[in-house]
Parts: sequence; structure tokens; C-alpha cells
Amino acid sequence: MEYASFLERMHTVQDTYGYIPENEIDKIAKEFNIPRAKVYGTIRFYSMFYTEPTGKYIIRVCDSLSCHINQSKEIVQIIKDYLGVEHGQTTADKKFTLEIVECLGYCGEGPVMMVNEHVYTRVSGNMVLDILKNCV
Ligand code: FES
Repeated sequence: MEYASFLERMHTVQDTYGYIPENEIDKIAKEFNIPRAKVYGTIRFYSMFYTEPTGKYIIRVCDSLSCHINQSKEIVQIIKDYLGVEHGQTTADKKFTLEIVECLGYCGEGPVMMVNEHVYTRVSGNMVLDILKNCV
């Protein structure tokens, strides 16, 4: 199996549907002659693949050591309270999905949050609420 082609195919499906539906998992497994479990394993391994529809905005908050020391837990709690969701959940209006993730690569600037592809560093509670309110 050509892994780069496999990942490219996964990205295409993810970009098309916003997640990787069951029937596409079957198609990919057949196309690359691999077990469905390998497709699922890849989905679980990479944070950018989903098996269910996500919100329009995917909120990722780092909770690795450096951000944790800089109160990322408080940021997460503020977001949970504001959105009314837990880690891995999507709001009822399908606007936001919250994910608590490992290091986002900005360790000296924590706490760090991403909204889709946009990175916010040194976020505060007020800043986070402003960011979320501006997601329309
Ligand atoms: S520890 Fe949070 S970005 Fe690295």
C-alpha cells in the first residue's frame, strides 16, 4: 500500500464530508486492499480525521505540560461552560466541537488554543470568550 496515497484519499474524504463516513471506510479499505481496522486505526491515530460530523468550528485546547502549567485547565473549563459540551462533543447547533489535545507546538506561549487552522497563544478567559463570540 502506498501510504501517502492512502492518507491523501483519507484527507479528500474528510474534506468532502467533514468526517469519514462508514461507507467511505469500506470503499477505502477495498481500494487499498487493507482491513477496515487499519482505516479505523488511522482515523484514531490522526487528530484531523473524524468518524462523525464535527462542528463548523473545531476548538482545540492544548493540555500538555507547558500549557497545563499556564492554566489550560481553566481555559478548558471556561469553554466547556460557555458551549455546554465536554471534550469530543459537538454543540447541538453543530457550530462547535471541543477537543482537548496534546502539544500544538507553541509550548513557550501557552495556554494555546486553535479554532480550525487559526492558532491563538497566551489566551486568557476573556480572550477565549471573545474568540468564540466572533465565530459566526
Ligand atoms: S504544551 Fe501546549 S503547545 Fe506545547
